[in-house]
Amino acid sequence: MRWLGSLTAFYDLRAIGISVPPSVEDLCHVSGKDVRVWGRQDFLDDVIESIRRQLELSPSHAMLEVGCAAGLLTAGLSRHVGSYSGIDVSRAAVGLARSRRLAGAEFQVMDAARLDFPARHFDRVLCYDVLTNVPAFRIVRQIMSEMMRVTRPGGKMLIGGINDRSMTESFGRRLAAVAEDLDRRYGPARRPQVKSSLFRRILLWYKRAVWGIEPKVGCYFFCREEFLRFGEEHGLTTQICDVHERNPYFGCRFNVLYTIPGHS
Ligand SMILES: C[S@@+](CC[C@H](N)C(=O)[O-])C[C@H]1O[C@@H](n2cnc3c(N)ncnc32)[C@H](O)[C@@H]1O
Repeated sequence: MRWLGSLTAFYDLRAIGISVPPSVEDLCHVSGKDVRVWGRQDFLDDVIESIRRQLELSPSHAMLEVGCAAGLLTAGLSRHVGSYSGIDVSRAAVGLARSRRLAGAEFQVMDAARLDFPARHFDRVLCYDVLTNVPAFRIVRQIMSEMMRVTRPGGKMLIGGINDRSMTESFGRRLAAVAEDLDRRYGPARRPQVKSSLFRRILLWYKRAVWGIEPKVGCYFFCREEFLRFGEEHGLTTQICDVHERNPYFGCRFNVLYTIPGHS
């Protein structure tokens, strides 16, 4: 579980020292998303709308977002459901999410592979742009099994933004092309002003020196077949689809929508 410690430290460091309440730019930064794309309200609205359609969100639904960071997607999603819960392993990111005091939304610090919710608790479960940082399909399976356990019969779970293993080679080129295009169109991305850089430096030193934890995340790729097999094994209806068409990584990433058998 060393990877999870490194990942947690990575996202903690992005969130620590950001002024509350965070701006949209700050939320993008904490999520590791390019503000020049994700900070545009029309883009964010479009992504939320595509999630709303795929998950068929309704005001009667209890929704869980797994790996919500500081809640970039929360405001958009929570207005379509009856209740929204967000969990993330980064305490600092969850603190920022709570500081926004969004109506109908609550946040907890939790590991996605060990969800502290009763079985069949949610109607809809979302995990968006999280698996890119998960180092093995064995762990993806644990996360999806937990998502499945807490979803009611007839409920749906959407796993968004999975790096397509068949595109591993071209992904690096796409990454470079997207960065170049955004720099040309908008100039370099601005980093948020952090209040307490001394505190961040001390924390970083402490984690490295005392715990031997290096804050870092990897970038991992998965096969569509692995998700189809998981669906088959658990009797789920599986749909594999493209990420949002305006996503800069369209064609290199995919989404998986699972429907749990039974009636809600
Ligand atoms: C790239 S960010 C995406 C955040 C958000 N879903 C979005 O789309 O803006 C990935 C988030 O997943 C969280 N995460 C990764 N692995 C996790 C795990 N095992 N349990 C809980 N959160 C996790 C990270 O802490 C980070 O905040």
